[in-house]
Amino acid sequence: MLDVIHITKSYRSGRGHLKALDQVSFTAAPGQAVAVAGRSGSGKTTLLHCIAGLEVPDEGRIVCHGKDIFQLPEKERQQWLRTGVGIVFQSGNLLSYLTVSDNIAFPLQLGGWPRGDIVRRVDELLQRIALPHAGGALPHELSGGELQRVAVARAMAHRPRMVLADEPTASLDTATAAEVVKLLMGVCRQENTILLMSTHDQAVMAAADRTVSLMDGRIDNTPPGNR
Ligand SMILES: Nc1ncnc2c1ncn2[C@@H]1O[C@H](COP(=O)(O)OP(=O)(O)OP(=O)(O)O)[C@@H](O)[C@H]1O
Ligand SMILES: [Mg+2]
Repeated sequence: MLDVIHITKSYRSGRGHLKALDQVSFTAAPGQAVAVAGRSGSGKTTLLHCIAGLEVPDEGRIVCHGKDIFQLPEKERQQWLRTGVGIVFQSGNLLSYLTVSDNIAFPLQLGGWPRGDIVRRVDELLQRIALPHAGGALPHELSGGELQRVAVARAMAHRPRMVLADEPTASLDTATAAEVVKLLMGVCRQENTILLMSTHDQAVMAAADRTVSLMDGRIDNTPPGNR
């Protein structure tokens, strides 16, 4: 179970003081997919980064499977990040100098998996993302949709309990976007993972079990028809 409780996060920058998130609360259960919607600048990426533990909120709590992420001692928090969370970043973020296989293996190496298990798991994931022969390729040799499938494989490789995907379909055509969403939904359902996907894409919202909408950093409870 994921409990996001009254998360507030401000930034100070050249533009002054900005409340990127203001008292955001919601919950998500294992096997449930939640779309996080909202205009550009509404706080979607900031929210996912806070939930992932990559950014520290000013106020509020993130409780996942009984762990209060920001109350954990630093070492345990790092451990939780390495093993419990998988992230598909907004800009893909594959390591350009590593092959597809090595990119997918990366979280497994961090997690100390034995070499034989890593090889088997990478193979299984390459099949699952329908790129069985792409293991030796470098990221620049793949298309945008293929790269996004590899990013999903890397995020789920270590069987995290929660997968966070930041606009996973942003730069894809409709058909390719549908494949990537199907892949993410499959992970969520089959591995009972909590899935959060930030998005502008109606198709992603339709595929998710529920949509949480943000407006200027706050949860927007306006019915969709009236926005
Ligand atoms: N590191 C930062 N320093 C200062 N301001 C920031 C920082 N990161 C984000 N912001 C600001 O916080 C607000 C929320 O940004 P965020 O990236 O979460 O929006 P978003 O909903 O993901 O937008 P998009 O759809 O364009 O990706 C924006 O106004 C942004 O300019
Ligand atoms: Mg964003």
